[in-house]
Amino acid sequence: MTTKKAKPPAAKAAKTKDRARTTPPDFYVLAPARPLGKRNRAMPGHDASAIWGGRFGQGPAAVLEQINASIDVDRKLYVQDIAASLAHARMLAQAGILSAPDARALTSGLKQIEGEIGRGRFSFRHALEDIHMNIESRLGEIAGEAAGRLHTARSRNDQVATDFRLWVRDALDALDSQLKGLQAALIKRAERHASALMPGYTHLQAAQPVTLGHHLLAYVEMLGRDRDRARDCRRRLNECPLGSGALAGTSFPIDRNATAAALGFDRPSANSLDAVSDRDFAIEYLATAALVAMHLSRLGEEIVLWSSGHFGFVRLPDSLTTGSSIMPQKRNPDAAELVRAKAGRVFGALMTLLAVMKGLPLAYAKDMQEDKEPVFDAARTLDLCLAATTRMVAEAKFDTDRMKAAAGHGFSTATDLADWLVRVLRLPFRRAHHVAGKLVKRAETRKCGLEDLSLADMRQVEPGITKDVFRILGPGNSVRSRVSLGGTAPANVKRAAAEARRRFLGSHKKA
Ligand code: ARG
Repeated sequence: MTTKKAKPPAAKAAKTKDRARTTPPDFYVLAPARPLGKRNRAMPGHDASAIWGGRFGQGPAAVLEQINASIDVDRKLYVQDIAASLAHARMLAQAGILSAPDARALTSGLKQIEGEIGRGRFSFRHALEDIHMNIESRLGEIAGEAAGRLHTARSRNDQVATDFRLWVRDALDALDSQLKGLQAALIKRAERHASALMPGYTHLQAAQPVTLGHHLLAYVEMLGRDRDRARDCRRRLNECPLGSGALAGTSFPIDRNATAAALGFDRPSANSLDAVSDRDFAIEYLATAALVAMHLSRLGEEIVLWSSGHFGFVRLPDSLTTGSSIMPQKRNPDAAELVRAKAGRVFGALMTLLAVMKGLPLAYAKDMQEDKEPVFDAARTLDLCLAATTRMVAEAKFDTDRMKAAAGHGFSTATDLADWLVRVLRLPFRRAHHVAGKLVKRAETRKCGLEDLSLADMRQVEPGITKDVFRILGPGNSVRSRVSLGGTAPANVKRAAAEARRRFLGSHKKA
């Protein structure tokens, strides 16, 4: 390597820059834009592209080269690109289109290149536009003329469609396992806090008491739907475009079933025009990612609220909070706030790709080169958000005493009182609702809870009330009574957590 990091722009460096060896950038960091200089002039000493330049007398203008090159982004596809090329070469040899020695030369050359890129010893060149041509050009240096035969019966259009599908497929698998990890962390906490009381909210106003376990298991359901969407997306994605050529198929006697099987696809795609121009799989991935990010943002928001002094329900460990440069007392939940915020970025990626694809005529158009950056960015963002959220869930300390105290505030058992009036006194629910409302008003005037009202006080509002009513007031009684399927009663929550283990984690640990 001659350079470690991209250097600040220097006029002299412009000529040699393309040749500079650079390490592949981190997952999401793009190389800085290069100075353009005289935008309309062809690159000095630059010939027309060796790969597609047969009919060109002049090389590309610097501005064209810069807008056209995708190598800073799509170099991330090198593993997939090499896997697809290996499968293609093997198939060409089996079909008698490529000689066995040529196939061997290509195979060993491609493996060598994979090693070079993996070790950061590969010279990526903007002049070679993208990952496909960078690899092919290097293959020419290693394997000589045989390299020129690899592109038989193939185009960059079916090549990139194949590579990108493989990449998104891996991203979906990684997403599934991270979602599962977060579910496992939530279920573990839910089991521990199956009976812990907390206020349940609607409109962010205390509504009815619930258990903390029940609340945490709500997120397990959301993430379960996300995993289902990821699986569904993977199933539709798993068709192989390779062999569709530029758009119309090929005249060579290729075996598309062989390449599809070699790359782990379920089948070859059915229509060559569709195969090279379809990016539904990437949009579906981003739609799935957007839903995950939305769910995480809700949990992030709850962590922000709950760790505030006003709620005081949760304390994040020092390792997951930050201080303030001016206020010494502060413990800020930055990670939770960023999880909340980064959802916007993932939604943006989805909108970007939808907008890129909208109105494109068949088949491939260069517009589609803009498909990768939003997907890579969303994947990186989600990876971080899931890792941070899982840590916060696993390590947060719940102040269950404070949660329990809060659960009793705000007349949160007024519904239980109304239900009792229906069940025991046979009042119509609307009437019972009215009576309970009057009792709330009375307790409010007395500045006490419903359970602190005297029986005499209650009887002034509804003479039929007996001392039995006190058995259903108070948050503990309230949650224990919510035994309906999917309800918050601790016994339910214990069962639901065991069920969740079975449904989502494939284990049978007793609750
Ligand atoms: N870098 C291109 C992309 O990502 C590869 C396909 C180029 N095809 C073409 N006909 N120029 O879309």
